[in-house]
Amino acid sequence: MKLRIAVLAGDGIGPEVTNEATGILRAVAELGGHDFVFTPGLIGGIAITETGSPLPAATLELALDSDAVFLGAVGDNKFAALSPDKRPEAGLLQIRQALGGFANLRPSVAYAELAGNSPLRPEVTEGVDILFVRELLGGLYFGAPRWWDRDSGESVNTMRYTKGEVVRVARVAFSLAEKRRKKVTSVDKANVLEVSQLWRATVTEVARDYPDVTLEHQLVDSMAMHLMNIPRNFDVVLTENLFGDILSDEAAVITGSLGMLPSATIGGAVNLYEPVHGSAPDIAGTGKANPLGAILTAAMVLRHSAHLEAEAAAIEHAVQHVLAAGHRTADLARGSDPTHAIVSTSQMGKLVHQALTEAIDRRQSMHAV
Ligand code: IPM
Ligand code: MN
Repeated sequence: MKLRIAVLAGDGIGPEVTNEATGILRAVAELGGHDFVFTPGLIGGIAITETGSPLPAATLELALDSDAVFLGAVGDNKFAALSPDKRPEAGLLQIRQALGGFANLRPSVAYAELAGNSPLRPEVTEGVDILFVRELLGGLYFGAPRWWDRDSGESVNTMRYTKGEVVRVARVAFSLAEKRRKKVTSVDKANVLEVSQLWRATVTEVARDYPDVTLEHQLVDSMAMHLMNIPRNFDVVLTENLFGDILSDEAAVITGSLGMLPSATIGGAVNLYEPVHGSAPDIAGTGKANPLGAILTAAMVLRHSAHLEAEAAAIEHAVQHVLAAGHRTADLARGSDPTHAIVSTSQMGKLVHQALTEAIDRRQSMHAV
């Protein structure tokens, strides 16, 4: 099949991890006879430096004309003093809005091989497999009015949702839950916020169309605690933009490292794929970045934009295989066996590539007999 992928590597460790992820996609294309076309584009701090804008028109055009957009990371301390609308992050928010994907899927899976890596006890993390569905185009991130008046010392952001915005993201969560363990946990702050009351009433209404799926509501503060105490209780977690941003980072504690988490944003004109981790400028260029979040994001590209489920699963198995063999990037060193080898970003990419090639070769030779 043919897939045109816009590759927006961005800032910090973005280019390093993106390089490994696209390498894996190229391998899948070669092994399976697919035609994946990669076109690079600028976004974030690098785009500000080179063009003056965090999302140049050419990038937007490229993205809208692609079948999928793969984004590395944006963020550069160099621009920390700028107002939010001029920072590298503004480019990310603008492209999210332009592509129109409102459901950000963030799986959080506890790999048995990394059990010693989480500060949580293995019996707490064992078997955890949560899918966060984070609403991505509403709430405080995009609500107006928004301003900071330096003279009066007053500032405003607006948390705003329409019923329609809640319905569409809730439907995604329930549909995905139907194919999993059939439970949706909707997270809000309905004891304080009207927006959350609308959210809760709407999700409850949508749930009626999915009789096989159990719905529970949690307040975001107690959810933050339950997530660490009893993460196995959760299947699909549905929540608004900011709560989802915070809880998905918290969930990284279960997997052992933020560097492991992939994401896909669906529902719009073009799907957007980005690892959950940021640009990590402190380790950029040192070979310490973990490319597995980006590589697992590549698997999501195959699953959600190419309908190559077997190939997506093969990448996920290859990652597991490499971890089982004891290979670790620096972020995964904690709590690991002293015999484990610490590998660089590119070595980790090569190891996954090898494991994937071997698995696909095995499958093809099995089919041949
Ligand atoms: C994320 C990031 C972004 C967000 C930032 C970089 C704007 O933290 O994708 O989780 O807040 O959505
Ligand atoms: Mn975040």
